[in-house]
Formats: sequence, structure tokens, C-alpha cells
Amino acid sequence: METKIIRMNEDSIDAQLLSEAGEIIKRGGLAAFPTETVYGLGGDALNAESARKIYQAKGRPSDNPLIVHISRWEDIYPIVREVPEAAERLAAAFWPGPLTLILHKSERVPPATTGGLETVAVRMPRHKVALAFIEASGGYVAAPSANRSGRPSPTLARYVKEDMDGRIDMIIEGDGADIGLESTIVDLTEPVPVILRPGCITRQMLEQVLGEVQVDSTILEGRAGQAPRAPGMKYRHYAPRGELTIINGPRRRVVEEINRRSEAVRRKGGKVGVIGMDDTVSCYRADSVKSAGARDDEKAVAHTLYRILREFDDENITVIYSEALAEAGEDRGMGQAIMNRLLKAAGYRVENIRDEG
Ligand code: TXA
Ligand code: MG
Repeated sequence: METKIIRMNEDSIDAQLLSEAGEIIKRGGLAAFPTETVYGLGGDALNAESARKIYQAKGRPSDNPLIVHISRWEDIYPIVREVPEAAERLAAAFWPGPLTLILHKSERVPPATTGGLETVAVRMPRHKVALAFIEASGGYVAAPSANRSGRPSPTLARYVKEDMDGRIDMIIEGDGADIGLESTIVDLTEPVPVILRPGCITRQMLEQVLGEVQVDSTILEGRAGQAPRAPGMKYRHYAPRGELTIINGPRRRVVEEINRRSEAVRRKGGKVGVIGMDDTVSCYRADSVKSAGARDDEKAVAHTLYRILREFDDENITVIYSEALAEAGEDRGMGQAIMNRLLKAAGYRVENIRDEG
């Protein structure tokens, strides 16, 4: 299949090209598009055949439900059984934006889109190209992240091309994704709302609007013996090709330990990548050393993480060591989202080292 590639930024929206993109979706085709979180791979959310094509293009198991993207608040009503007050309040506070709500679905949404679930994930992104594209597509765009299954979500158009060129009808190329990590997912079908995937909208922000909000206990643990409630969270997502281990402990000891391991791996012919931070990168010796950003700048770390993982793939890195890039317990900033993705990329391999003076 030939993939048509068009370029569009938030300040250069072209109505003609967008209606062409919209026609592709309405005809049952697929088009990738930029959002503020990561690039999405869009198809008609109300067309079961489109959902099947999405799974095929991604190489993704079809029990993994898709998020339905809308561009206007009133479009939520036809696709859900009811709109609880909590949804109205969250939408008023955070839509358009990086927040996905799980609600009971209506008959309009085919089971192929929701992976057979009776619930549906709904999000209104804030990226202007995304909003215009959804509108041109008839209002309901199912879109997972536009990566091949198992690869890190694409934060740059270049990575969408790498993964999807030749597999879908169109790619709308825009600027790099602003946030760099996927939306926060909140399940509103339970008595107490539950965060199924942490993101830029934090528990604290949600609690200011809703009162008590819980966090799915599997978010920061690999082997809790319990299946995560967002089916997609059980897969080894976000994975780089190199084997990633997180080394956690006092800063100076972490640097020593990573350098020691790096040297051992390189002596055996491995190619080592290290993820440090601005204040430590100069201390590492490896084949490729990258900074995730300044230690007090979680936004920068979130923005950079997936790009670093992809760059290590391009550099054929076989073993990756990373510092713990944020405080996971912190539910104010993006620390929880960053550590959730880093842990998943690492297959939950963490080495804790103690301070020995
Ligand atoms: O930021 C985002 O949300 C991006 C952009 C493109 O909007 N999209 C995205 O989609 O991350 P995807 O498919 O990569 O991740 C969707 C997640 C999966 O973990 C899936 O299991 C979960 O949402 N999900 C979807 N529908 C669900 C449902 N009804 N119940 C529970 N989890 C659901
Ligand atoms: Mg994804």
C-alpha cells in the first residue's frame, strides 16, 4: 500500500487536505495524526472493519481496546449509555486535553473497537490538527498510539513513518508531540474513579475535581499477580530492543554501578546505552549516553523518554541502564507516569543499591 504523507501544523491547517484525510476515514481507511500526547493511528470508531484494520496495521492483539477520539462535547452522548456527573466535571476541567474516560458504551460502538468490552474509552485531544481531523472524519476516530505493537509510542512524525509507512493510507506529519507520554486513563464505571494509566493529568488534579480517586495497584508493580484493568497495560509495551535495567539508589553509587556493569557488558561485545540526567551524563562511560533532562524538570523527561528509547534502537544498543528518572510515589507531577512507562520498558527489572558510605 502506498502511504500518502502530508504536512500540517497547528498554525497551518489546510481544510482541503483535511477533508481528504477525513474521506479516507469515512471510507474505512487509516490515517495517522498528531496529538498533544503521542501520534495516533486513526480509523472510523463506529466501523468494525476499520478497527480490525488498525489491529492489523499495528500487529496488536485484538482484545486490546481502542480509545474513541471526539472533537465536540455533545458527540459523547450517542456512544455511551449515560454520562455521569463525574464525566461532565472532568470534561469541563480537562477537555480538550490528555485525559481519557472509561464509560459504559452504547450500541453504536462495535465490540471490535472496545476489544469486546461493554465499556468504551473516550478522549477529546487538544491538538488543533487532531480536532480538525476528527471533525473531518465524521466525529469518531478510534486511535491507538501509531507505533507497531511493542515499540515505544511515536512522539515524532519520523517514527510514525518508520513504523507505519506502507501499512496505512495516510500520515499527517506535524511537529513533535508536546507531552510525549500517553493520556491519563480514568475508569468512571466504578463507585470510586480509578486511574488505569497515569499521565499528565495527575491524581491530585483529578481529586480536586472529583474527591477521592484511586490508582490501579498494578501501575507500578510488574508481578502483582493481578491483571491490570486497562487490558493494554498487561502487554510489554513501550519496549526498546535493548534489554533495559533501572538502577536505583544514591546518585554517586548509581553512577559507579552503571559504569561497572557497562564495562563488563562491553568487554563481552555488548553495546551499552545509558540514560542519565543533565547532572550525571558526563560521568558515564558507555557506547551511547543520553540525558533525559534536568532532575527537577519532569515535563522535559516525559517529553524525551520515548525518543531516547527509539534512538537506542537506531544505534543497535543491546543493553540499556537507566537511572530512576523520577519519584514514582509522587502523584503531583508526572513522576508516576514517567516511572510507569520506564518500568514497563524495563520489563520491571530494577536493581536497588544501598549506600555503603
Ligand atoms: O494519549 C493517548 O491516549 C494516545 C493518543 C493517540 O490519543 N492513545 C493511546 O492509545 O495511547 P493506546 O491504544 O495506545 O492505549 C489505549 C489504552 C490501552 O491500554 C487500553 O487497554 C486502554 O487504553 N483502554 C481502552 N479502552 C478501554 C476500556 N474500555 N477499559 C479499560 N481500558 C481501556
Ligand atoms: Mg499504545
